[in-house]
Parts: sequence; C-alpha cells; structure tokens
Amino acid sequence: MKVLGIETSCDETGVAVYDTGRSGADGLLAHAVYSQIALHAEYGGVVPELASRDHVRKLLPLVRQTLAEAGLSVGDLDGVAYTAGPGLVGALLVGAGVARSLAWALDVPAVGVHHMEGHLLAPLMEDDPPEPPFVALLVSGGHTQLVAVEAIGRYRLLGETLDDAAGEAFDKTAKLMGLPYPGGPQLAALAEAGTPGRFRFPRPMTNRPGLDFSFSGLKTQVMLAWRDSDQSDATRADIARGFEDAVVDTLAIKCERALDEAGCDTLVVAGGVGANRRLRARLQEMAARRGGRACFPRPALCTDNGAMIAFAGALRLEAGQRAPDAVHVTPRWDM
Ligand code: KG4
Ligand code: ZN
Repeated sequence: MKVLGIETSCDETGVAVYDTGRSGADGLLAHAVYSQIALHAEYGGVVPELASRDHVRKLLPLVRQTLAEAGLSVGDLDGVAYTAGPGLVGALLVGAGVARSLAWALDVPAVGVHHMEGHLLAPLMEDDPPEPPFVALLVSGGHTQLVAVEAIGRYRLLGETLDDAAGEAFDKTAKLMGLPYPGGPQLAALAEAGTPGRFRFPRPMTNRPGLDFSFSGLKTQVMLAWRDSDQSDATRADIARGFEDAVVDTLAIKCERALDEAGCDTLVVAGGVGANRRLRARLQEMAARRGGRACFPRPALCTDNGAMIAFAGALRLEAGQRAPDAVHVTPRWDM
C-alpha cells in the first residue's frame, strides 16, 4: 500500500509517501518538510492564523514535489493519512481538507492520525525496527510523556510533564538568554561549547518515586543564574550546558525507572528533543548497560514530518481502519 502522509499541526508542512510493501527505511519513498520558522521568528512564537495561511500556500506544491521525488503519479496512491490532532485548529483543517479531498477524488481511503502516535511510531520506520513491548519517551515542544507500548495501538501512559514540555523548556530557556525563536536547537548547539559543571541545576522530581516530570522550575533557576551572571558569551554557553545536562539527566533517570516498571529493556525515543545529541548518547549508554537498546528515528524524523503520519496511517489503513468522509479535526486529543 502506498500511502501519502500530510502533517500540518503546527508550523511545519510535511508530506511523504510510505510503501508498506517494503520494510524499514526502504518503505519511505520520499519526504519533504517546509518549515515556517522564518515566518514566525519576528513574533517570538507561532502565530496560528499565519501558520494556516502558509500551509494553504505550501501544501499542494509540496504534495506534487514529493510525488515527483517518489517517481509516482497521484493515481498510484492507495490511501491518504493526515494529522487530525492535537494541534492548531486552522492548521489541522488545511491538512485534513486537502487529504480528504484528494482521497475522495482518487476514491481511496483516508485516515486521521494522532500526531503523537506518529512521533511514537517513527522509530519503527528505520532499519531493524524494535518490536513491542517497549517503553517510549515522547519529547517534543508540546509533550513530554513516558508510554508503555504493549502493541501498536495499545498504549499505557506511565508519566508526563506537570507543566512545561522538555522542548518548551529548551525554547523558553533559550529565549530568556536572548537566543532567537525557536531556541531549543541553538541552545543545544551552544551547550556543546559550554564547560560542564560550572553551573549545576536541579534534576526536578528525581528524588521521589513516580514517572512524572516538571521543567518549569528549571527555567526559573536558569533565569536567576543568567540575571546574576556577567552575561558573556562564555557564560551563556556554560549555562546552556548546565541546563542541557539537567534535562538529559532527568529524562535518563525517569526512562530507566520506566523500563524497570514496565519490565522491558527496549526504549524508543521520539519527538523534536529526540534530535538532541547528548540525550541520544546518554539514553543509548543507559540502555546498553542494561543489555537492551535505545532506538531513535534519524534527527529529521524526530521533528515534525509527514513520514511519521504516512507510516502510522498506513498501519491503520492496513488494519482496515476507515473513518467517515468528513473533514474533522481534534485540536485537543489524548492519545
Ligand atoms: O516534535 P517537534 O518538532 O514539534 C512538536 O510537536 O512540538 O518538537 C519541537 C521541539 C522544540 O521545542 C525544539 O526546541 C525541540 O523540539 N528541539 C530540540 C532539538 N531539536 C529540536 N531540543 C533540544 N535539542 C535539540 N537538538
Ligand atoms: Zn511534533
């Protein structure tokens, strides 16, 4: 089955084609992402109406480009998958409208996909994919969750953030030290040059049982450290390093706890923060120490993309899942 995937939940227009007749990375015939970052940068965050309008402008050209890259014509598609939520309502409606219209015109089925299920299954698109049961760490700009994946489609929430998501903490911390939006990746790049140990921040909620997270206090600690510092470039890098180490440590401690609790040794990591180099190294080392492994999508499939939607949608369509021909989205939606 060749499935077109469309992602428009926030500020990235993502399109891809996944072919279930092939496995792992081979199944991904083409994918393209257009990022609206430059459009929103001057506002310091995503402006929903501008996001919707830009998806309208970019989506169809991106569908054409992706099909051309895959060497397919639109008539070769066997199904269409789109992000149905959670996300910005206007942005979601653009993707849902285009996906439903295409599917109707081509007389193929369409399916709405949960954005976080897309992230969660993305590591399975790589070669040598892990098989359930495993524990998934979902770390994006909007979510920080630990999920026990008993089977595809059977998920049990083990813990989540009580306030800021990990990516949100990266972005807000970057902003308060004067880095432009979205600062997460830039903060991580700065941390590479920082001196470890010069600034030490707490590892929130690790000294008590449980699998929930809280990152908002950490941001305040960084704000105080930055305010009272010489605010030099070197200090900014050192604080970035201290902050990154605290987040990575906290996530690693909770992931290990979650593996213990779920009684398994495979950890799957997905979402934008999963692109973080130090987090990847740390979790790989932790899983290997236990005789297990940590699986990540390639960095480009950690952040928002159409490939994860094509893949998750293809699994649902292959399982026979069909939904009524309605353009319907769910901006707030628990997985
Ligand atoms: O999954 P994603 O693309 O979008 C959401 O669904 O939220 O995640 C974006 C988040 C942003 O907060 C961004 O700052 C963060 O992922 N991020 C990173 C890195 N790359 C992206 N955070 C830390 N280190 C990175 N290398
Ligand atoms: Zn996402």
